[in-house]
Amino acid sequence: MRLLVTGGAGFIGSNFIRYLLAEHADAQVTNFDKLTYAGNLENLADLAEQPETKARYRFVRGDVADPDAVAAVFRERFDAVVNFAAETHVDRSLEDAAPFLRTNVLGTQTLLEAARRARVARFVQIGTDEVYGSAPDGVAFAEDAPLRPSSPYAASKAAADLLIESYVRTYRFPALTLRCSNNYGPYQFPEKLIPLMIANALENKPLPVYGDGLNVRDWIHVEDHCRAIHRALLKGRVGEVYNIGGVALKTNLEVVRTLLKLLGKPESLIRFVEDRPGHDRRYALDSTKLRKELGWSPCHTFEEAIERTVTWYRAHAAWLEGCRSGAYRDYYERHYGQREEFVARARAGSRREDK
Ligand code: NAD
Ligand code: TYD
Repeated sequence: MRLLVTGGAGFIGSNFIRYLLAEHADAQVTNFDKLTYAGNLENLADLAEQPETKARYRFVRGDVADPDAVAAVFRERFDAVVNFAAETHVDRSLEDAAPFLRTNVLGTQTLLEAARRARVARFVQIGTDEVYGSAPDGVAFAEDAPLRPSSPYAASKAAADLLIESYVRTYRFPALTLRCSNNYGPYQFPEKLIPLMIANALENKPLPVYGDGLNVRDWIHVEDHCRAIHRALLKGRVGEVYNIGGVALKTNLEVVRTLLKLLGKPESLIRFVEDRPGHDRRYALDSTKLRKELGWSPCHTFEEAIERTVTWYRAHAAWLEGCRSGAYRDYYERHYGQREEFVARARAGSRREDK
């Protein structure tokens, strides 16, 4: 199988490439990635060096929204495309939505067009549960739930899903869409909740929890996501959407307290900061379709896999430090500095009112 993977230098893409090359002795992967702040070739350095994978893995630097770069990579023939490339952080999309629209919408359309012309036999779009918006208590969204994105990130991913749908209807293009819940595991960029909290706790820095910390996320280990992508790539029905999740629903506070316990750090490190605007209260997915049609079920429990994840980040301090230096430090100070000041001002205000 000759596969084009976009965004393969990021968190889930790099885990997927490693998984696929190990599962398929005959898989050949081309990883097409722009290497934004979130893309890191170190995530795949071992594959590019090991004799058993070296000949089956190729990296091409390029932008999915650049038609010339995409046309150039499609000079090679591919049996399938898996599109991970995206701007992915909700908080960054609130600061500036433009790169999200460019990569997630225009980039998807550029790839779709090139893949259609190249008569690729299968296109798997990596989508997100955030397109459904917040799930009321007791509700787990199935694939037919309406799209109600809350953030520019989620709106850009919903737009991409609709473009896929339009290509399937108009051109009978052989695409399918997967919508997964929150992932955790190795190589996740430490701007996302779990690696951010681990990295801060390791340095005895405050852990910034938004709002009251009672927002619920539906956590899945990245390997369980990769296994679902693999099944969908081989057996998923064209034109369909499959949800992937429903594994471990936790409040953010539960997650943060678990991490602190595993790291042997005190809960006094928790700092409640200004909430994220438009913060979805609860995510919960119904994955019955994936389980029934493709025989998928998760292999990891949250309790076991979160412990392994903490061990991995402890053992990869240099990797974490590499991510957290340079431009990321500016983002961190800009984003969290304002939030902490906001809470400090609110506290000072309420003390004045108490008097
Ligand atoms: P990530 O931010 O870790 O990685 C994104 C990768 O895409 C990076 O390597 C980056 O360099 C690359 N990229 C960005 N813009 C590009 C462009 N214009 N052209 C080519 N490459 C570009 O993201 P992730 O967490 O691995 O997410 C991968 C995909 O999975 C995304 O589509 C995301 O929406 C989806 N998803 C993520 C989660 C999650 O919990 N992380 C959950 C559900 C779905
Ligand atoms: P995040 O990892 O950004 O993923 P998403 O927004 O895509 O779900 O955030 C997960 C949850 O953690 C979300 O409810 C927001 C919350 N959160 C914090 O409380 N503090 C933080 O510093 C971050 C980054 C997230």
